[in-house]
Amino acid sequence: MSTKDVKKTTEAQIAVHWQEEDYYYPSSQFTGQANLTDPSIRKRFSLDNFPDYYTEFAELLTWYKYWDEVLDTSDPPCWKWFKGGKLNASFNCIDRHLNKNKNKTAIHFVPELEEERVDHITYQELYVRVNEFAALLRDFAGLKKGDRVTIHMPMSAELPITMLACARLGVIHSVVFGGFSASACADRIIDSNSRVLISMDAYYRSGKLLNHKQNADEAVQISKNEGQIVDKVLVWQRYPGKYSSETPMVENRDFFVNDVIKNYYGERIEPEHMLAEDPLFLMYTSGTTGKPKGCQHSTGGYLAYVAGMSKYIQDIHPEDVYWCMADIGWITGHSFIVYGPLALCASTVIYEGVPTYPDAGRSWRIAQDLDVNIFHTAPTAIRALRKIGPDEPAKYNYHFKHMTTVGEPIEPEVWKWYESVVGKGKATIVDTWWQTETGGFLCSTVPGIEPMKPGSAGPGVPGIHPIIYDDDGNEITQSGIAGNICIQNPWPGGFQTIWGDRDRYVESYYARYCKDPNSKDWRDWPYLAGDAATRSEDGYYRILGRIDDVINVSGHRLGTKEIESAALVVEEIAEAAVVSVAHDIKGTEPDLYVALKPGIESSDEIVQKVSDTICSQIGKIAKPRKIWLVPDMPKTRSGKIMRRVLGSISNSQDVGDVMTLANPEIVETIKNMVQNT
Ligand code: WTA
Repeated sequence: MSTKDVKKTTEAQIAVHWQEEDYYYPSSQFTGQANLTDPSIRKRFSLDNFPDYYTEFAELLTWYKYWDEVLDTSDPPCWKWFKGGKLNASFNCIDRHLNKNKNKTAIHFVPELEEERVDHITYQELYVRVNEFAALLRDFAGLKKGDRVTIHMPMSAELPITMLACARLGVIHSVVFGGFSASACADRIIDSNSRVLISMDAYYRSGKLLNHKQNADEAVQISKNEGQIVDKVLVWQRYPGKYSSETPMVENRDFFVNDVIKNYYGERIEPEHMLAEDPLFLMYTSGTTGKPKGCQHSTGGYLAYVAGMSKYIQDIHPEDVYWCMADIGWITGHSFIVYGPLALCASTVIYEGVPTYPDAGRSWRIAQDLDVNIFHTAPTAIRALRKIGPDEPAKYNYHFKHMTTVGEPIEPEVWKWYESVVGKGKATIVDTWWQTETGGFLCSTVPGIEPMKPGSAGPGVPGIHPIIYDDDGNEITQSGIAGNICIQNPWPGGFQTIWGDRDRYVESYYARYCKDPNSKDWRDWPYLAGDAATRSEDGYYRILGRIDDVINVSGHRLGTKEIESAALVVEEIAEAAVVSVAHDIKGTEPDLYVALKPGIESSDEIVQKVSDTICSQIGKIAKPRKIWLVPDMPKTRSGKIMRRVLGSISNSQDVGDVMTLANPEIVETIKNMVQNT
């Protein structure tokens, strides 16, 4: 077994002590209307009934052709769900709702500037716009089933329109978070071999109109240098008909969508009949090495899974106004702004800007004005809203029946504020633990049935059977002992592979606990999630954080190796090490230690250069809290940088015994430097 992408996790083998929190129960008003109140669900979704229970989710969709086989395990661990079945995601999210609901709002787009009008797009309008754009993609951009397209766009109604137009044609979309740099966008263009880039000229962030088109130019140039030619850049306009960027359009390469689309007005495109296992999209995420991995998600399994999760865990009904305050550029936005809510014919809210612009009451005004009744966000946003506007929610007249937290562990104190102040004591909360790779939830309570427990994600969602292993592969059954959380069974939302790198897929997620690499029995292939967790007596899981070199900054997943590689681009830098530091709002943030090449003098300019390079290589979200220029790194005798020692220094914790290091004296020097600043 290769250990290229998998780390030993003795750090996870720590006993954790935390106080068991009291249960909170859903109100009878909530359970009275909940989609799922039948406690026998757990029995129905027990492993004895695997994999057939997942047909309940598949039946939420409309199929052109039913599947021949629920689960094909002939090529482990690349599972094929609903094999032989045919469907189209765009049809399921739009066309099938038109009969009864064409005049209903599909998307509420809320611009950041409060003086601009909210755009309410009906299902019929969504249908028209998706069809016209699909015609443009097919006939103007020459795209066809199986091609990949990179989409680097901000939060806008045009982003889901673009995604759904791709899905209609069977074109595989790869959406890059709008806040990522041109260079990060280029990496994804190259890896997916996209020859078309879809962008937008500008967008608002904290009241400023940012020039986004510039990123497209740089990304295309970087891709070209690496041998990937982008021959068309399609540019949406923030204000249709008006160009809001100073970056010139390149002739014969860049085209305004709002001009070209006029040639396709009135066009209708028959949705491609896709096999369930045909890929729907790629979503890149961080891992242990510096290179992001393109998680490949399927059409049938993924859509069935997010529809199931949206219905039973998010409790979405068609009459709900659902606001997931994430970015569509992350998996949460794909599953719970776009595909899940639209598959269920709900109204989904897309907000362009920051939740606290222009003031701490903004989110609650949006909730009030649109009468949002389901709200979904990350602990980092909850902490920020609590810090700057603890009394704001009470000033607005909105009513949430259901709220979600996602993306990082939530402190019980923050959870309780969310429950009592944001939820006004009336909303049922789900703490959903999952990942880019998993498509939908792994752990959460079922909101109409199971009580909530602050700080705990709850049991596996129906159908998901978690298990905790120690480093030697023994199951940990004792409560309160941490280990590596794995999932025993495949599930339809799970990604199919890493784009172009099946070996890395197997090594990163399955090799560690695989019982027999030749086995075609799914029971031999537990999925390694990469998080440490404990289970308490009641079967609820508490997620403790990553066991690999991934850090979670404001709910954004970043690889420490990605940040280190970016720092090493600066020619004066010899070595770089990233550690995570606790932060009261962001959860954690990166601290960067760098050692200079011999003969180079430390200076503020170098620090600035490193910081600028990280922002240009990855994006502002990866900017370190502090960059420490150190004379040398603490190292083991074999020359390995001891990141654990640096982490203790950054977090003002005891560094422990360092006498076995090759250079123990450096620890004191670094400590003085960091702790006296
Ligand atoms: C973390 C985001 C605690 C975890 C959907 C996971 C969480 C990583 C939770 C995936 C939660 C996500 N409680 N930790 N409810 N949800 N995480 O791929 O470490 O951006 O492995 O997917 O976020 O991040 P990703």
